[in-house]
Amino acid sequence: MAVKAVEVQRLEGPEGLALVERPEPAADGQVLVQVHVAGVSFPDLLLSRGLYQVKPQLPFVLGLEAAGRVLSAPEPSGLRVGQRVVVSGLGSWAELLAAPPEKVFPLSDRLSLAQGTAFLMNYQTAHFGLVRRGRLQAGETLLVQGAAGGVGSAAVDLGRALGAQVLAVVSDEAKAEVVRRLGAEHVVLAGEGWLERVRQLSGGGVDVAFDPVGGDRFDDTVRALAPEGRLVVIGFAGGRIPSLAMNRVLFRNIDVVGAAWGAFAERVPELPRRTHVALSELAEAGRLHPLVGAEFPLEQAAEALRLIEARRALGKVVLRLRGEEGT
Ligand SMILES: NC(=O)c1ccc[n+]([C@@H]2O[C@H](COP(=O)([O-])OP(=O)(O)OC[C@H]3O[C@@H](n4cnc5c(N)ncnc54)[C@H](OP(=O)(O)O)[C@@H]3O)[C@@H](O)[C@H]2O)c1
Repeated sequence: MAVKAVEVQRLEGPEGLALVERPEPAADGQVLVQVHVAGVSFPDLLLSRGLYQVKPQLPFVLGLEAAGRVLSAPEPSGLRVGQRVVVSGLGSWAELLAAPPEKVFPLSDRLSLAQGTAFLMNYQTAHFGLVRRGRLQAGETLLVQGAAGGVGSAAVDLGRALGAQVLAVVSDEAKAEVVRRLGAEHVVLAGEGWLERVRQLSGGGVDVAFDPVGGDRFDDTVRALAPEGRLVVIGFAGGRIPSLAMNRVLFRNIDVVGAAWGAFAERVPELPRRTHVALSELAEAGRLHPLVGAEFPLEQAAEALRLIEARRALGKVVLRLRGEEGT
Protein backbone atom coordinates (compact mmCIF):
# COMPACT_ATOMS: atom_id res chain seq x y z
CA MET A 1 0.00 0.00 0.00
CA ALA A 2 1.23 3.50 -0.80
CA VAL A 3 1.50 6.01 2.03
CA LYS A 4 1.19 9.79 1.73
CA ALA A 5 4.15 11.72 3.14
CA VAL A 6 5.81 15.11 2.90
CA GLU A 7 9.40 15.02 1.70
CA VAL A 8 12.15 17.60 1.73
CA GLN A 9 13.38 17.44 -1.87
CA ARG A 10 15.51 20.61 -1.87
CA LEU A 11 17.02 22.41 1.16
CA GLU A 12 14.95 25.53 0.52
CA GLY A 13 12.61 25.59 3.54
CA PRO A 14 8.84 25.47 2.80
CA GLU A 15 9.51 25.86 -0.96
CA GLY A 16 11.54 22.63 -1.04
CA LEU A 17 8.72 20.38 0.27
CA ALA A 18 6.61 17.98 -1.81
CA LEU A 19 3.63 15.73 -1.01
CA VAL A 20 4.50 12.25 -2.33
CA GLU A 21 3.40 8.63 -2.13
CA ARG A 22 5.93 6.22 -0.69
CA PRO A 23 5.88 2.48 -0.06
CA GLU A 24 4.47 1.40 3.30
CA PRO A 25 7.31 1.12 5.87
CA ALA A 26 8.23 -2.43 6.91
CA ALA A 27 7.52 -3.13 10.59
CA ASP A 28 10.67 -5.29 10.92
CA GLY A 29 10.54 -5.72 14.69
CA GLN A 30 9.45 -2.11 15.13
CA VAL A 31 6.14 -0.59 16.23
CA LEU A 32 3.96 0.41 13.31
CA VAL A 33 1.87 3.48 14.09
CA GLN A 34 -1.00 5.01 12.14
CA VAL A 35 -0.28 8.71 12.39
CA HIS A 36 -3.28 10.89 13.30
CA VAL A 37 -1.35 14.07 14.12
CA ALA A 38 2.24 15.05 13.35
CA GLY A 39 4.11 17.78 15.20
CA VAL A 40 5.68 20.77 13.46
CA SER A 41 8.58 22.43 15.22
CA PHE A 42 11.38 24.94 14.79
CA PRO A 43 13.91 22.10 14.26
CA ASP A 44 11.78 20.97 11.24
CA LEU A 45 12.36 24.40 9.74
CA LEU A 46 16.10 24.05 10.36
CA LEU A 47 16.09 20.52 8.85
CA SER A 48 14.26 21.79 5.75
CA ARG A 49 17.05 24.30 5.19
CA GLY A 50 19.94 21.96 5.99
CA LEU A 51 20.74 23.97 9.13
CA TYR A 52 20.04 21.30 11.78
CA GLN A 53 22.75 19.26 13.51
CA VAL A 54 21.34 16.14 11.77
CA LYS A 55 21.64 16.29 7.97
CA PRO A 56 19.68 13.41 6.35
CA GLN A 57 20.31 12.54 2.73
CA LEU A 58 17.81 14.05 0.23
CA PRO A 59 14.99 13.33 -0.31
CA PHE A 60 13.79 12.56 3.22
CA VAL A 61 10.43 12.61 5.01
CA LEU A 62 10.28 15.58 7.38
CA GLY A 63 8.88 15.59 10.94
CA LEU A 64 10.31 14.55 14.29
CA GLU A 65 7.23 13.51 16.26
CA ALA A 66 3.71 12.16 15.89
CA ALA A 67 0.72 10.84 17.79
CA GLY A 68 -1.59 8.06 16.65
CA ARG A 69 -2.64 4.47 17.20
CA VAL A 70 -0.62 1.26 17.21
CA LEU A 71 -1.23 -0.93 14.15
CA SER A 72 1.23 -3.65 15.16
CA ALA A 73 3.88 -4.04 17.84
CA PRO A 74 6.46 -6.66 18.74
CA GLU A 75 5.41 -8.80 21.72
CA PRO A 76 7.92 -7.53 24.33
CA SER A 77 7.02 -3.87 23.78
CA GLY A 78 3.90 -4.16 25.96
CA LEU A 79 1.99 -2.01 23.46
CA ARG A 80 -1.51 -3.04 22.28
CA VAL A 81 -3.02 -2.77 18.80
CA GLY A 82 -5.23 0.34 18.76
CA GLN A 83 -3.47 1.96 21.75
CA ARG A 84 -3.00 5.76 21.66
CA VAL A 85 0.70 6.56 21.55
CA VAL A 86 3.20 9.32 20.87
CA VAL A 87 6.29 8.58 18.79
CA SER A 88 9.54 10.45 18.29
CA GLY A 89 11.75 9.95 15.27
CA LEU A 90 12.54 11.47 11.89
CA GLY A 91 9.95 10.87 9.15
CA SER A 92 6.74 11.57 11.09
CA TRP A 93 5.00 13.64 8.38
CA ALA A 94 3.56 10.46 6.88
CA GLU A 95 0.42 8.35 7.25
CA LEU A 96 2.40 5.43 8.73
CA LEU A 97 5.49 5.48 10.89
CA ALA A 98 7.67 2.56 12.00
CA ALA A 99 9.69 3.22 15.16
CA PRO A 100 11.68 1.18 17.67
CA PRO A 101 9.69 0.41 20.86
CA GLU A 102 11.89 2.70 22.99
CA LYS A 103 10.68 5.70 20.95
CA VAL A 104 6.95 4.93 21.42
CA PHE A 105 5.10 5.95 24.59
CA PRO A 106 1.48 5.43 25.70
CA LEU A 107 -0.48 8.72 25.81
CA SER A 108 -2.52 9.76 28.84
CA ASP A 109 -6.31 9.78 28.28
CA ARG A 110 -6.33 13.31 29.68
CA LEU A 111 -4.58 14.57 26.52
CA SER A 112 -5.78 14.72 22.92
CA LEU A 113 -3.54 13.23 20.24
CA ALA A 114 -2.75 16.77 19.07
CA GLN A 115 -1.64 17.71 22.60
CA GLY A 116 0.37 14.51 22.65
CA THR A 117 2.69 15.80 19.93
CA ALA A 118 3.62 18.69 22.22
CA PHE A 119 4.43 16.15 24.90
CA LEU A 120 7.53 14.91 23.08
CA MET A 121 10.14 17.47 22.09
CA ASN A 122 8.60 20.54 23.73
CA TYR A 123 7.61 19.14 27.12
CA GLN A 124 10.56 16.76 27.39
CA THR A 125 12.95 19.62 26.60
CA ALA A 126 11.17 21.84 29.14
CA HIS A 127 11.39 19.09 31.78
CA PHE A 128 15.07 18.42 31.09
CA GLY A 129 15.86 22.15 31.08
CA LEU A 130 13.87 23.11 34.18
CA VAL A 131 14.23 20.08 36.42
CA ARG A 132 17.55 18.42 35.61
CA ARG A 133 19.64 21.27 34.20
CA GLY A 134 17.99 24.28 35.89
CA ARG A 135 17.24 22.56 39.25
CA LEU A 136 13.99 24.53 39.53
CA GLN A 137 12.31 24.24 42.95
CA ALA A 138 8.72 24.93 43.96
CA GLY A 139 8.38 28.53 45.12
CA GLU A 140 11.21 29.82 42.93
CA THR A 141 10.81 32.47 40.24
CA LEU A 142 11.11 31.37 36.62
CA LEU A 143 11.61 33.69 33.64
CA VAL A 144 10.62 32.21 30.25
CA GLN A 145 11.65 33.91 27.00
CA GLY A 146 9.67 33.22 23.79
CA ALA A 147 6.93 32.06 26.15
CA ALA A 148 4.14 31.70 23.57
CA GLY A 149 6.27 29.50 21.27
CA GLY A 150 6.45 25.71 21.27
CA VAL A 151 9.12 25.02 23.84
CA GLY A 152 8.47 28.30 25.71
CA SER A 153 4.77 27.56 26.26
CA ALA A 154 5.72 24.09 27.55
CA ALA A 155 8.14 25.70 30.03
CA VAL A 156 5.42 28.08 31.26
CA ASP A 157 2.91 25.25 31.72
CA LEU A 158 5.40 22.87 33.35
CA GLY A 159 7.02 25.59 35.48
CA ARG A 160 3.61 26.49 36.93
CA ALA A 161 2.80 22.79 37.48
CA LEU A 162 6.08 22.43 39.40
CA GLY A 163 5.09 25.27 41.70
CA ALA A 164 7.26 28.07 40.31
CA GLN A 165 6.15 31.67 39.96
CA VAL A 166 6.32 32.20 36.19
CA LEU A 167 7.28 35.49 34.53
CA ALA A 168 6.97 35.36 30.76
CA VAL A 169 8.45 37.61 28.07
CA VAL A 170 6.71 37.79 24.66
CA SER A 171 6.79 40.20 21.73
CA ASP A 172 3.12 41.18 21.38
CA GLU A 173 -0.20 41.42 23.17
CA ALA A 174 -1.81 38.43 21.36
CA LYS A 175 1.01 36.20 22.60
CA ALA A 176 0.71 37.76 26.07
CA GLU A 177 -2.95 36.76 26.25
CA VAL A 178 -2.13 33.15 25.33
CA VAL A 179 0.59 32.94 27.96
CA ARG A 180 -1.69 34.40 30.65
CA ARG A 181 -4.20 31.67 29.86
CA LEU A 182 -1.42 29.08 30.30
CA GLY A 183 -1.00 30.33 33.84
CA ALA A 184 1.97 32.72 33.81
CA GLU A 185 1.72 34.97 36.84
CA HIS A 186 3.17 37.99 35.01
CA VAL A 187 3.62 38.62 31.30
CA VAL A 188 5.96 41.36 30.13
CA LEU A 189 6.24 42.66 26.58
CA ALA A 190 9.74 42.51 25.10
CA GLY A 191 10.99 45.96 24.30
CA GLU A 192 12.49 48.75 26.28
CA GLY A 193 12.04 48.30 29.97
CA TRP A 194 11.27 44.58 30.17
CA LEU A 195 14.32 43.93 32.32
CA GLU A 196 13.35 46.55 34.92
CA ARG A 197 9.82 45.19 35.04
CA VAL A 198 11.06 41.61 35.56
CA ARG A 199 13.39 42.76 38.33
CA GLN A 200 10.53 44.59 40.07
CA LEU A 201 8.14 41.67 39.75
CA SER A 202 10.67 39.11 40.99
CA GLY A 203 11.95 41.20 43.88
CA GLY A 204 15.40 41.82 42.40
CA GLY A 205 16.03 38.92 40.02
CA VAL A 206 14.80 35.47 38.97
CA ASP A 207 16.05 32.10 40.18
CA VAL A 208 15.88 30.39 36.77
CA ALA A 209 15.76 31.83 33.25
CA PHE A 210 14.69 29.48 30.41
CA ASP A 211 15.91 30.85 27.09
CA PRO A 212 14.99 29.41 23.66
CA VAL A 213 15.55 32.82 21.99
CA GLY A 214 19.14 34.00 22.59
CA GLY A 215 19.61 36.87 20.12
CA ASP A 216 19.47 40.47 21.24
CA ARG A 217 17.53 39.72 24.44
CA PHE A 218 20.25 37.45 25.82
CA ASP A 219 22.36 40.07 27.64
CA ASP A 220 19.36 41.32 29.57
CA THR A 221 18.27 37.76 30.32
CA VAL A 222 21.63 37.31 32.08
CA ARG A 223 21.08 40.60 33.96
CA ALA A 224 17.65 39.37 35.09
CA LEU A 225 19.16 36.57 37.22
CA ALA A 226 19.34 36.76 41.00
CA PRO A 227 22.61 35.71 42.70
CA GLU A 228 22.87 31.91 42.35
CA GLY A 229 20.37 32.10 39.51
CA ARG A 230 20.56 29.54 36.69
CA LEU A 231 20.35 30.46 33.01
CA VAL A 232 19.18 27.48 30.94
CA VAL A 233 20.27 27.87 27.31
CA ILE A 234 17.73 26.12 25.05
CA GLY A 235 18.15 27.60 21.59
CA PHE A 236 18.61 30.62 19.37
CA ALA A 237 15.28 31.34 17.66
CA GLY A 238 16.32 35.03 17.66
CA GLY A 239 19.02 34.17 15.13
CA ARG A 240 22.20 35.37 16.84
CA ILE A 241 24.21 32.91 18.97
CA PRO A 242 25.24 35.11 21.90
CA SER A 243 28.48 34.98 23.87
CA LEU A 244 29.09 35.83 27.50
CA ALA A 245 32.10 37.30 29.31
CA MET A 246 33.06 35.00 32.19
CA ASN A 247 33.60 37.93 34.58
CA ARG A 248 29.81 38.38 34.55
CA VAL A 249 29.32 34.73 35.53
CA LEU A 250 31.93 35.10 38.27
CA PHE A 251 30.87 38.39 39.85
CA ARG A 252 27.14 37.78 39.62
CA ASN A 253 27.50 34.25 41.09
CA ILE A 254 25.33 32.68 38.42
CA ASP A 255 25.24 29.33 36.57
CA VAL A 256 24.90 29.14 32.79
CA VAL A 257 23.87 25.66 31.68
CA GLY A 258 23.04 24.17 28.29
CA ALA A 259 20.08 21.85 27.77
CA ALA A 260 20.30 20.00 24.43
CA TRP A 261 17.65 17.35 25.01
CA GLY A 262 18.09 15.26 21.84
CA ALA A 263 21.86 14.90 22.29
CA PHE A 264 21.49 14.03 25.98
CA ALA A 265 18.71 11.50 25.37
CA GLU A 266 21.03 9.66 22.96
CA ARG A 267 23.56 9.29 25.77
CA VAL A 268 21.02 8.21 28.41
CA PRO A 269 18.52 6.14 26.43
CA GLU A 270 16.20 5.37 29.38
CA LEU A 271 15.71 9.09 30.16
CA PRO A 272 12.98 9.88 27.56
CA ARG A 273 10.73 7.14 29.02
CA ARG A 274 11.38 8.30 32.61
CA THR A 275 10.67 11.88 31.59
CA HIS A 276 7.50 10.81 29.77
CA VAL A 277 6.29 8.99 32.90
CA ALA A 278 6.97 12.06 35.07
CA LEU A 279 5.11 14.32 32.63
CA SER A 280 2.25 11.84 32.27
CA GLU A 281 1.74 11.80 36.05
CA LEU A 282 1.35 15.57 36.00
CA ALA A 283 -1.06 15.32 33.05
CA GLU A 284 -3.09 12.60 34.81
CA ALA A 285 -3.37 14.89 37.81
CA GLY A 286 -4.80 17.58 35.51
CA ARG A 287 -1.80 19.85 36.05
CA LEU A 288 -0.58 20.17 32.44
CA HIS A 289 -2.51 21.74 29.57
CA PRO A 290 -0.46 21.66 26.34
CA LEU A 291 -1.58 24.43 24.02
CA VAL A 292 -2.24 23.54 20.37
CA GLY A 293 -2.28 26.83 18.48
CA ALA A 294 -2.74 25.74 14.86
CA GLU A 295 -3.72 22.69 12.82
CA PHE A 296 -3.08 22.16 9.09
CA PRO A 297 -3.85 19.23 6.77
CA LEU A 298 -0.81 17.31 5.54
CA GLU A 299 -1.25 18.92 2.11
CA GLN A 300 -0.53 22.32 3.73
CA ALA A 301 2.65 21.31 5.53
CA ALA A 302 4.56 24.16 3.87
CA GLU A 303 2.07 26.67 5.36
CA ALA A 304 2.67 25.19 8.82
CA LEU A 305 6.40 25.67 8.40
CA ARG A 306 5.85 29.25 7.17
CA LEU A 307 3.86 30.03 10.31
CA ILE A 308 6.85 29.06 12.44
CA GLU A 309 9.27 30.90 10.15
CA ALA A 310 7.15 34.06 10.42
CA ARG A 311 7.34 33.90 14.24
CA ARG A 312 3.56 33.52 14.44
CA ALA A 313 3.35 30.08 16.08
CA LEU A 314 1.36 29.88 19.32
CA GLY A 315 2.13 26.77 21.36
CA LYS A 316 2.20 23.59 19.29
CA VAL A 317 1.65 23.62 15.53
CA VAL A 318 0.38 20.30 14.14
CA LEU A 319 -0.51 18.52 10.90
CA ARG A 320 -3.81 16.66 11.08
CA LEU A 321 -3.89 13.38 9.10
CA ARG A 322 -6.87 11.68 10.81
CA GLY A 323 -9.48 12.60 13.40
CA GLU A 324 -8.86 11.99 17.10
CA GLU A 325 -10.86 8.74 16.96
CA GLY A 326 -9.58 7.47 13.65
CA THR A 327 -11.74 9.05 10.95
N1 LIG B 1 17.58 22.44 23.42
C1 LIG B 1 16.71 21.61 22.90
O1 LIG B 1 16.75 20.41 23.17
C2 LIG B 1 15.65 22.16 21.98
C3 LIG B 1 14.46 21.46 21.76
C4 LIG B 1 13.47 22.05 20.95
C5 LIG B 1 13.70 23.31 20.39
N2 LIG B 1 14.89 23.94 20.61
C6 LIG B 1 15.18 25.27 20.06
O2 LIG B 1 14.38 26.22 20.76
C7 LIG B 1 14.12 27.32 19.90
C8 LIG B 1 12.63 27.61 19.89
O3 LIG B 1 11.93 26.50 19.32
P1 LIG B 1 10.31 26.51 19.30
O4 LIG B 1 9.91 25.23 18.67
O5 LIG B 1 9.80 26.90 20.62
O6 LIG B 1 10.06 27.70 18.25
P2 LIG B 1 8.78 28.66 18.12
O7 LIG B 1 7.54 27.92 18.51
O8 LIG B 1 8.85 29.26 16.76
O9 LIG B 1 9.04 29.79 19.22
C9 LIG B 1 10.19 30.58 19.19
C10 LIG B 1 9.93 31.88 19.93
O10 LIG B 1 11.16 32.62 19.86
C11 LIG B 1 10.86 34.00 19.80
N3 LIG B 1 11.67 34.68 18.77
C12 LIG B 1 12.45 35.76 18.96
N4 LIG B 1 13.05 36.13 17.85
C13 LIG B 1 12.64 35.29 16.89
C14 LIG B 1 12.91 35.18 15.51
N5 LIG B 1 13.74 36.02 14.89
N6 LIG B 1 12.31 34.20 14.81
C15 LIG B 1 11.50 33.32 15.43
N7 LIG B 1 11.20 33.37 16.76
C16 LIG B 1 11.77 34.35 17.47
C17 LIG B 1 9.37 34.14 19.47
O11 LIG B 1 8.77 34.69 20.62
P3 LIG B 1 8.46 36.26 20.72
O12 LIG B 1 7.84 36.65 19.40
O13 LIG B 1 7.51 36.32 21.84
O14 LIG B 1 9.77 36.89 20.97
C18 LIG B 1 8.87 32.73 19.27
O15 LIG B 1 7.60 32.55 19.88
C19 LIG B 1 14.70 26.94 18.53
O16 LIG B 1 15.97 27.54 18.41
C20 LIG B 1 14.81 25.44 18.60
O17 LIG B 1 15.82 24.94 17.74
C21 LIG B 1 15.85 23.40 21.40
